[in-house]
Amino acid sequence: MTTNRTFTMIKPDAVKNGHTGAILEKITAAGFRIVALKKTQLSILDAEAFYSVHNERPFFGELVSFMSSGPIVAAILEKDNAVDDFRTLIGATNPADAAEGTIRKLYATSIGENAVHGSDSNENAAIEGAFHFAGRELF
Ligand code: RTP
Ligand code: MG
Repeated sequence: MTTNRTFTMIKPDAVKNGHTGAILEKITAAGFRIVALKKTQLSILDAEAFYSVHNERPFFGELVSFMSSGPIVAAILEKDNAVDDFRTLIGATNPADAAEGTIRKLYATSIGENAVHGSDSNENAAIEGAFHFAGRELF
């Protein structure tokens, strides 16, 4: 994967609350092109593997339980400076700290149920995109 791509998930809270369309609109209006897109659900094992970097953190069990609790929408996105620009678009992890107009400010309910995931590096964007999508699903 090239450095102009990032990976996102619309998390179970935002899908359940009916925000999928509004969030995808914010993403494309911000200049991201959708390379790959699917609605799916993580098993507990999937969520443990996806977030394994956090497996020593006190919130890991809660995170895995939440992320496997319902359907998500996964996507690979393309734009210049995709990783950093997408983190700016989604806002801080805790919606209470997120800037006005960011996706988490608009749609997240708590630090745990925070509406969207965004990759934190080019390396992780490539790993996370490959976790969810086969090459033939990228356009
Ligand atoms: P993400 O990976 O989902 O894009 O979120 P992030 O980089 O902003 O935050 P990170 O530190 O990677 O944490 C991953 C996810 O774990 C949940 N979390 N809960 N209860 C807590 O204190 C807590 N802290 C983090 C959130 O769902 C966070 O997005
Ligand atoms: Mg993170």
